[in-house]
Amino acid sequence: MADYRIFHSPRLSGEVWIGTAKNAVLPIMAATLLTGEECVIHKMPALTDVKNMLRLLQLCGAGDRMEKDTAVICARNVQNPEDEGLLRSMRASVLVLGPLVARNGECAFSMPGGCAIGQRPIDLHLKGLQKLGAKVETDGGQIRVTGKLQGANIYLDFPSVGATENLVMAATMARGLTRIENAAKEPEITDLCHFLVAMGARIAGIGTNNLTVEGVEEMHGAVYTPIPDRIEAGTLACAAAMTEGSVLLQNARSDHMRALLFKLAESGVIFQEDPKGLRIRGRARRPMEVRTLSYPGFPTDMQAPLMAVTTQLNGLSVFVETIFENRFMHVVELNRLGANIRVEGQLAMVQGGKPLTGAQVTATDLRAAASLMIAGLATQGETVLHDGGGHLMRGYDGLEEKLRALGAQVHKEA
Ligand code: UD1
Repeated sequence: MADYRIFHSPRLSGEVWIGTAKNAVLPIMAATLLTGEECVIHKMPALTDVKNMLRLLQLCGAGDRMEKDTAVICARNVQNPEDEGLLRSMRASVLVLGPLVARNGECAFSMPGGCAIGQRPIDLHLKGLQKLGAKVETDGGQIRVTGKLQGANIYLDFPSVGATENLVMAATMARGLTRIENAAKEPEITDLCHFLVAMGARIAGIGTNNLTVEGVEEMHGAVYTPIPDRIEAGTLACAAAMTEGSVLLQNARSDHMRALLFKLAESGVIFQEDPKGLRIRGRARRPMEVRTLSYPGFPTDMQAPLMAVTTQLNGLSVFVETIFENRFMHVVELNRLGANIRVEGQLAMVQGGKPLTGAQVTATDLRAAASLMIAGLATQGETVLHDGGGHLMRGYDGLEEKLRALGAQVHKEA
């Protein structure tokens, strides 16, 4: 859908605004299906995934209007969505499952798609809904979940972000008490819970691995501004660290970014809290060891962008990817630029310090695209990033424009 031309860039400097978190806004949008009243969401990011989610909500019966960057969504009545293409294109489409079953007693749809970074099954979502009394029938790629939900004790085998979100949404209107143990506690889940509480939900343990939800008869409308995007902020922090820049990430929440910030700091980058956000200064110098984990561990979404930085650090950096089984697709492309990275299973070893040279590379998924853009900032010559799948626009609201505003040489071609 777009190509990007990237040239060796000087030190990035200046200030840049961090937009709303994609991964917070998508479940919050899905949660609006829980009520027939109007919900108002401010500071909506301009992302393809957000547009697709709005379209999906329409298919579910919701009406919406945009007033600048505010979305007003109202799902007076809800129904099953019917558009396989859309459902397959976006993993987050599975998030309408919990709200639709809770409100309507039924949801039938096809298996969700999304980035090709792993199998990404939804067994934990379905198992949890079954615990809540739903009947789950699967036929080919079709799934049908029906039933009146009843509070239950749920233990998640793995703290899945999407499953936690789906189940907490479903539980808000299930009769009685639901406990979700080993829940994920990413900041975006906390944000969703705060939105649900604003809609009338009763949730205890917000921000922990144990959520308790007391079902209510009805949810109501709410007005909300979701949190800033820690992954966009982290990506720009990596770009700054790559170029020995000095960048102020306005609106960034450093408390959501501890794992990345401490890795960068170990490597020589300075970060400072600022009344306007977070300042990143200096250069990453020392190699790193990174293991992706559930929050508050190192986020898998930052693995690819940070790996680009480590290609320029003298010595061996090691990445262990424990969340997704196929999330090293950027490695082949980084190596095309001259990096020396070897993958063995879930382990990537980066022998850093080799200069990069411009080449044609391909974006295979969202964070891989960001990784290649960061690498391009340090290459000699021109790097052409082919993003035929429009991955970057799915999850970053004008990343290339923000980088350019900081002095980077990045140009987008339609
Ligand atoms: C969300 C984020 C994504 C991020 C990921 C991990 C959104 C829209 N996306 O994705 O950017 O990379 O969290 O932080 O918020 N799994 C199962 N069974 C399930 C569910 C998940 O086996 O039912 C596995 C997945 O295949 C994967 C791992 O658990 O290997 C993590 O998935 P999960 O936490 O659910 O991530 P998503 O919600 O898909």
